[in-house]
Amino acid sequence: TEQELEDMFNTALQVAKEAGNVIRDAFYKEKKVDTKMSAADLVTETDQAIEKMVESMIVKKYPTHRFIGEESTKDHEKHKLTDDPTWIIDPIDGTTNFVNHIPEVCFSLGIMVNKKTVIGVVYAPIKEELFTARLGKGSFLNGRKLQASKITDLKKAVILFEGGASRDAKILEDKMANTHSLYTHARGMRSYGSGALSICNVAAGRGQGFFEYGLHIWDFTAGGLIATEAGAVVLDPSGGELNPLHRRVLCACTQEVAHSLSQLLVHIDMGWD
Ligand code: IPD
Repeated sequence: TEQELEDMFNTALQVAKEAGNVIRDAFYKEKKVDTKMSAADLVTETDQAIEKMVESMIVKKYPTHRFIGEESTKDHEKHKLTDDPTWIIDPIDGTTNFVNHIPEVCFSLGIMVNKKTVIGVVYAPIKEELFTARLGKGSFLNGRKLQASKITDLKKAVILFEGGASRDAKILEDKMANTHSLYTHARGMRSYGSGALSICNVAAGRGQGFFEYGLHIWDFTAGGLIATEAGAVVLDPSGGELNPLHRRVLCACTQEVAHSLSQLLVHIDMGWD
C-alpha cells in the first residue's frame, strides 16, 4: 500500500543517513583493505560494517523482506529475484575512491517489489548529495527535482563509463574498443569511479549517458530508478529491456542517445548475478 511504501522510503532515508555517517567518519582514516575477485576489486572494514548495520536495521523492521548486499554475496553465488520486497544495497560504491580519499563515493539502496524498483536512494556523504526517487513520483537531488538532459545527438553528448574490476585481457580489449569508438563519436568521456553515482549524474544532467559491462545489481538498481524518474532511459546495452541480474547497463538522457550508444558498443557478456 501507499502507506507501506511511504514507511519503507522513510526507513531507506534513515538507513542512508546512518551509512553516510559511517562513511564520513572513516573517510580520512587509515583503512584495512582486502581484495575480492581481482586485485582491482576492493573491500574495506567499513564496507562490511555498514552492510551488517544496514541488514540488521532492515531485518528488525521488515523480517519478511529479502536482502541482497554486495559484501554478504559470496564469490560466484547466484541471486534469485523474487516478487517479495527486496532491499538491494551497496554499502560503499566507489571503494577504490574511498581508499584514495576521492570524494566520489556513495551508499546505494534500491527496493524492488514484484521485481520492479519502487524506491531508490543514493547518498554521497562527502559531497553532501542525496539522490532519491519513488516510482511515479520523480527524482530529487537534495530536494531539487531532477530532469535529464534533452540532447539527442551523440556528437553533443558527454558519456560516462566505468572500466570495472575485471583484468581479463579479452574483456579489456573489448572495453578499450568501446572507449575508442565513443571518444571518436561523442563530445567527451568521463569516468568517476562509481557506477551508482554515474547513473545519478546522468539523471542530474551532468552528462548524457552511462554504460558499464561487469557491474552488479547493487550498483545500478537505485540509480536506475533515479534516472528513469528524471526522464532518462535505462536499458540493456544491446537496446533491449534491462535484466537486473545481467551484469551490464546502459543509461541515456534520451532514446536517441541510447540508440546511438547501442549501435556503437561491443556488447560484452560478463555473466549474471
Ligand atoms: C564498483 C564501482 C566501479 C565499477 C565497478 C563496481 P564498488 O563498485 O561502481 O565504478 O566499475 O563495476 O563494482 O566495488 O566500489 O562497490
